[in-house]
Amino acid sequence: MKTEIRQSLAEYLRFVRDLGLESTTLDPRLFAPANPAAAVESAPAAARSASPPASPAPGSRSASPPIAPAARRTVAASAGGAAADAFSFSIPAMPKTNDQVSRPVAESLSAIRSELGECTRCKLHALGRHSIVFGDGHAQPRLVFVGEGPGADEDQQGLPFVGRAGQLLTDMIEKGMGLARSQVYICNVVKCRPPDNRTPEADEIAACLPFLHRQLRALAPELIIALGATAAHALLGTQPGRGPLNALRGRIHALAISGWPARVLVTYHPAYLLRDPRQKKEAWKDLQIAMHDLKLAIKPNSL
Ligand code: URA
Repeated sequence: MKTEIRQSLAEYLRFVRDLGLESTTLDPRLFAPANPAAAVESAPAAARSASPPASPAPGSRSASPPIAPAARRTVAASAGGAAADAFSFSIPAMPKTNDQVSRPVAESLSAIRSELGECTRCKLHALGRHSIVFGDGHAQPRLVFVGEGPGADEDQQGLPFVGRAGQLLTDMIEKGMGLARSQVYICNVVKCRPPDNRTPEADEIAACLPFLHRQLRALAPELIIALGATAAHALLGTQPGRGPLNALRGRIHALAISGWPARVLVTYHPAYLLRDPRQKKEAWKDLQIAMHDLKLAIKPNSL
């Protein structure tokens, strides 16, 4: 193997290990002469629309070797066959704590919150909002949950997921995954309560999404769990109404958020699980994918 290729391969494996992946598939095209135009053309919409990465700080995750968005899609962290023309590698298990994850030097959450201010960027500010529910939890989490938008309880308390759905989410985190709620971070796609708990509209999501992206980049978790269709479509850049949420479950989606390599797992929204408890076993399968990915011990579930 040429020295140059061997170096690229070693750097790539370090990069993948930093993302916390246990195994990966490598597309030989990764090591072919770069053809950025082709890579951009075949990248997912979210990655294509992401602004170019800022100059990475030394030692930051984004200082890892560049990996074309199209190639990034070949990194399947869970079930799913390797491409016929790809090699398979196993990376040694490396359990991590929140503090051990290397993170990009990004703006602070408090700076993002200050810039959001008493937001009037969309109509939700004038539709009965009591508080802006920015997010809550560990400032350097390995895992972030993203919901749809605050409900009445959240609007009153200024905190995400504190009502009935929030209690179920807490059980999923604590009883299901064996983590403390304070070890993860929880936020929503829109930060203001939609009236009558309706689904946020496209213009409201569009106004809030840049703040969610900046928030996620600042948090730089190893894994993001999208709760329900609104969060899944907003994060993945997929079209609502085009196929069931189910089709997005069961695998980790790799994408770029402002040049930062985000990884997203989709599961059902806890409010949906309250309405249809039979789906809890499906949600538990999703949590097990997350736990396997984060190398958390999996125990028999009681969700
Ligand atoms: N549902 C959500 O999507 N978010 C919350 O914060 C509460 C309920």
